[in-house]
Amino acid sequence: MKVRFTETVLRDANQSLMATRLPYADYADILPEMDKAGYYSVECWGGATFDSCLRYLGEDPWERLRNIRKNMPNTRLQMLLRGQNLLGYKHYHDDVVEKFVELSIKNGIDIIRIFDALNDFRNIQTALEATKKYATKRTIASGCISYTQSPVHTVKKYVEMCKELKKMGFDTICFKDMAGTMSPNEAENLVKGVKDAIGDMPLILHTHCTTGMAYMTLTKAIESGVDVIDTATSCFSNGTSQPATETLFYALQQYGADTGLNEEVINKVNDYFKPIKQKYIDNGTINAKSLGTDSQALVYKVPGGMLSNMIANLKDMNAMDKFDEALLEIPAVRKDLGYPPLVTPLSQMVGNQAVVNVLMGERYKQISNEIKNYFKGEYGIAPAPVSQELQDKILGEGGKPTDCRIEDSKRTGAEFEKAKAELGDLCESEEDMMSYICFPDQAKKFLTERKAKEENKAKYTIELA
Ligand code: CO
Repeated sequence: MKVRFTETVLRDANQSLMATRLPYADYADILPEMDKAGYYSVECWGGATFDSCLRYLGEDPWERLRNIRKNMPNTRLQMLLRGQNLLGYKHYHDDVVEKFVELSIKNGIDIIRIFDALNDFRNIQTALEATKKYATKRTIASGCISYTQSPVHTVKKYVEMCKELKKMGFDTICFKDMAGTMSPNEAENLVKGVKDAIGDMPLILHTHCTTGMAYMTLTKAIESGVDVIDTATSCFSNGTSQPATETLFYALQQYGADTGLNEEVINKVNDYFKPIKQKYIDNGTINAKSLGTDSQALVYKVPGGMLSNMIANLKDMNAMDKFDEALLEIPAVRKDLGYPPLVTPLSQMVGNQAVVNVLMGERYKQISNEIKNYFKGEYGIAPAPVSQELQDKILGEGGKPTDCRIEDSKRTGAEFEKAKAELGDLCESEEDMMSYICFPDQAKKFLTERKAKEENKAKYTIELA
């Protein structure tokens, strides 16, 4: 039996437990050691890390990536990319997506895990093509499926999706169970079904401990033939994060599994991160709530984050007495929307609409702009047919959603010119330009501060001379 590990402490564990506030300086010293651990890959970039670097940490995300690359030359570096949305929630032009992928690979990324919230694979096509175009020998394009449960999300449907990803040309396939609601039984059926269909193409399972099932789920997935699992060094594991690297290593070793991991090194990695975790518990960045198990998600069939969001909303409106009613409304709204996976931003959209429906005492008396845009087709194609009645209400009788993908100004570089013009001499590289296109306000603030620092330094040097 062969099972490889992706270590997530630098990205998803950091994002899940401490809202991605881990600065590069905190882990720089352990990178050379991590490089000897024998991981399949280290997930270290993408997701919310980019935004967090610019917005909260005063770091250049590209520089962070280059530094990780320099200190971990032997390990595959992995990022998470939201297809045509890159690292945000809006659709970018194809040329922007292509340039982003090109720069990611150029600055050190080896594995690009590409997903779309609705599993509308048209939204991951451009990112895949760009990955193939700029690929080095180490590059891996991983096609990722957002996992969810609904009457239309059957094993058969997931197998069809996997076949489609294989046909598109992805090198590996990953299931992303962001809410941690995949049960051991579901994992077994899914992995067996998919493995039968895609042959020796590597299959990866990404889950979270949120509901407490992840260890059982991964064990069943491994027994059923999954090739790679995502785990976090133990002090950054569990709760809303991934299961623990050392624990799974220990358990799998007794089965004689070949994990490629060096036990001494993975233990050293954990020892290194222990005081760092303590520091962020002490200053309140790590919330005790995120470290526990929350089985409510299984009872209510909604992800934990969505539930707390809804409770906050209802409390704001002094309407907690409507909580049970709003919970019951969620499956109805989700059905009307064609069973989208309950992942950001869809989870908030469905939750908010359910609350509004209940508070108004009438369904869809008020419809949010986001839901209107969803019906217009701006997020892609829904997994199942949407409610005809609601569609008619939003688009007019007989109205049809349009293809949202941006076809105009394809590969014209218009966004690049605009960004360069707006940044002026703040822009020192294509990477700066791309930061600005993705997060204009945050990037401009960061680049302005960087320039001020550089000028100060120059002044100081002259004075010294
Ligand atoms: Co995750």
